[in-house]
Amino acid sequence: MASYRCLDEDIAEILFSEEVIGRRIKELAEQILEEYKNRELIWLTVMKGADNFSYRLREEVARSSVERYEGLVVDLIPDLIIMSLFSNPDNPSEEPVTILGPDPMIRYKGREVLVVEDIVDRGLTMKYLLEHLGRKEPAEIKVCSLLSKPGKRRVEIPLAYCGFEVEDKFVVGFGLDFKQRYRELPYIGVLKPEVYTLRE
Ligand code: IMP
Repeated sequence: MASYRCLDEDIAEILFSEEVIGRRIKELAEQILEEYKNRELIWLTVMKGADNFSYRLREEVARSSVERYEGLVVDLIPDLIIMSLFSNPDNPSEEPVTILGPDPMIRYKGREVLVVEDIVDRGLTMKYLLEHLGRKEPAEIKVCSLLSKPGKRRVEIPLAYCGFEVEDKFVVGFGLDFKQRYRELPYIGVLKPEVYTLRE
């Protein structure tokens, strides 16, 4: 019989199961729906890490809206941005760089923006992004992050919505990666330190 190497074996501990994440996404979606109902909102997904979270959250906003108001009452305009981000805890890049987006066809000036991110760690990536977006003169920018590591913060980032706070441990899954791996794990778990210290 063939044997398989499971990526799950590299996980030291599961912090948030798929069910727990799903329930939290539903709660966040309800808060977002209440805040933005009858309004227009640019929904900016930070790729690639927030891809899964953002999609699930948007789906829940729409589902809650239909359940509560019998239709879609938030005028969502999806956009995306790809940032180059550090994913090696031993070698964090100090200068995150924007490599794509937002879509030049979407006008940001005078509009409300919700930035949807996977994790705010030191806060440097988000600071860079908020400054970049600020130059487009939106009326308001709020941040929704699935995870936050408050103990690591170097710059203050106000999080209007936050899924979970985590300790200073390197986590993967549900979109979060280490060297582009583990994004597809359905849960969020702590990566075994030997995985990122030993492997190339
Ligand atoms: P910051 O600039 O330090 O806030 O880093 C933010 C980015 O680093 C995130 O968008 C992630 O891509 C990456 N990152 C930070 N911590 C982790 C982690 O624990 N697991 C996976 N990626 C992380």
